[in-house]
Amino acid sequence: MQTAGLFISFEGIDGAGKSTHITGLAEAFRAQGRAVVLTREPGGTALAEKLRDLVLNDAMDPLCEALLMFAARRDHLQQVIEPALARGEVVLCDRFTDATFAYQGAGRGFDLAVLRQLEQWVQASTEPGARLRQPDLTVWFDLPPAVAAQRLAGARLPDRFESQPQAFFERVAAGYGARMQQDPGRFARVPSDRPMEQVWLAVRQAFEQRGWLGAEVTK
Ligand code: TMP
Repeated sequence: MQTAGLFISFEGIDGAGKSTHITGLAEAFRAQGRAVVLTREPGGTALAEKLRDLVLNDAMDPLCEALLMFAARRDHLQQVIEPALARGEVVLCDRFTDATFAYQGAGRGFDLAVLRQLEQWVQASTEPGARLRQPDLTVWFDLPPAVAAQRLAGARLPDRFESQPQAFFERVAAGYGARMQQDPGRFARVPSDRPMEQVWLAVRQAFEQRGWLGAEVTK
């Protein structure tokens, strides 16, 4: 019997602390015998990684930024995400389209109607009448921007997004809130201004509640 594929995305402002939990989830799924694809956006294919390098480092206008994000996403969906889901695998994707609505839409103030149109084109299914491809679950690591700023201070050389002022991240965080309001059933909001172990418990719980992971065995 083929197990259904699972598409999970992870979101939050820069510094929200997604990485450790994504790795932990990959281990938990593998321990249950599931094949896991760990990937990220922008990126995840050779072409999309080249676009990532451009979009994180080169000056460009907001439309160009949005188009490159969706161009990278299209290649990623076709080359990596859709084939993995068709094989029944678990795709753990560090950021997806909610990031575009939060960063380019809310953060940069770019036209949300254009983003919605791009979302329709890029995430359309090849099967007639099928719904848009969206994650089965989006884990939103919700961290106050002031706390994120403290965490990021003195870290490696910031890219075009990390170097934005706190006010930008206030808008991005509000953008994530707005996306969640539009589709609350798809989101698990995890308050992340707390010790890492507590954040991990909340993340696990979101998967256990949906029957996707068994209860954690504590040693
Ligand atoms: P990362 O540092 O979490 O890998 O994400 C790369 C940066 O790209 C991060 O600052 C958020 C930004 N980003 C967007 O602005 N729009 C998008 O659609 C995506 C996927 C990421």
